[in-house]
Amino acid sequence: MVRPLVTQNFCLGHPVIDTEHAAIGQYWQQAVSCERLQLPLHLARLKKAMARHFDHEAEILAQTTGMSLCTRHRAEHGALLDLCSEVALLYEQDWRKAQSLLRNRFAAMVREHIISMDLCTVLLIQTAGEGAPCDPATTA
Ligand SMILES: [Fe+2]
Ligand SMILES: [Fe+2]
Repeated sequence: MVRPLVTQNFCLGHPVIDTEHAAIGQYWQQAVSCERLQLPLHLARLKKAMARHFDHEAEILAQTTGMSLCTRHRAEHGALLDLCSEVALLYEQDWRKAQSLLRNRFAAMVREHIISMDLCTVLLIQTAGEGAPCDPATTA
């Protein structure tokens, strides 16, 4: 049994973002547990769900705070999508190595992304409108 991609420990407290992370986790689970012939289909579904989620994450932040995702956050989204493409290419040569890349390096990158970039984004969303912590208007 493969360890889930996102466990309860990765819940950030934003229902939409957490639900989308869980859905990505389900697609990932199928991709890392399937047989050779199913891998391209599951990988395509995973990549599509991630691309949709990344757009949605930026949209939620913009609507709530008027801010854009920072350069590093966007770069990590791009790197995760690129890694999916790399897995698809590797599949042509060695499907087990491709699945292993998805199970290990990809999973580590996603988990690291959630507890850094996404956590900061959720904090920004949840504190929108409260003023900066050192804002004299809110600390007087
Ligand atoms: Fe993100
Ligand atoms: Fe995310």
